[in-house]
Amino acid sequence: MKKLVHGWPAGDFEKILIPAPALRRRVRALGRRISRDYQGQKLTVVCVLKGSLVFMADLLRAVHIPCDVDFMAVSSYTGTRSGAVRLALDLRANVAGQNVLLVEDIVDTGLTLSYLREILSARRVKSLKVCALLDKPSRHRAPVSVEYVGFRVPDRFVVGYGLDFHERYRNLPSIAVLKKSASK
Ligand code: IMP
Repeated sequence: MKKLVHGWPAGDFEKILIPAPALRRRVRALGRRISRDYQGQKLTVVCVLKGSLVFMADLLRAVHIPCDVDFMAVSSYTGTRSGAVRLALDLRANVAGQNVLLVEDIVDTGLTLSYLREILSARRVKSLKVCALLDKPSRHRAPVSVEYVGFRVPDRFVVGYGLDFHERYRNLPSIAVLKKSASK
């Protein structure tokens, strides 16, 4: 019988890069830092759909200060390579004068992030910080500043914990490196 990882063929993955318990520990630590840094202030946490949805759900429960939640979506890549960025869903709330924390799944070239920073800064927010679960520093094409980073990862295509390849693998509880043959 074919070996499965959380329902997906084990052969789709080269390796598990970050197992679920390590994700849990790191997300809790990020939540503690964010709670400390924004103590006594109001915070709007913005989830960048869809890749950040699993991370966001866990991070929110690790943040122990009152906060509002909102969503944005961009279409920023086709297949495994990053391309042009376009706003697909905008915030519902007016964030002028608010402390905004942007929650990203992964910073790859950094183009999505610079685009979102530009849009949000133009809205006269009080402060804007970014929390990214993963960062691929070797791929940055624009100057990128990320205040909270979960893990620095090598230049490999990863899936799971919300990250997809053509909408697949988001429900994998760990982060895995996708095998080249599975990304064809
Ligand atoms: P950037 O604009 O190049 O930084 O790309 C950001 C977006 O590309 C992320 O929010 C992801 O949706 C997607 N992306 C980049 N690298 C990966 C990866 O290794 N796995 C899954 N999605 C990725």
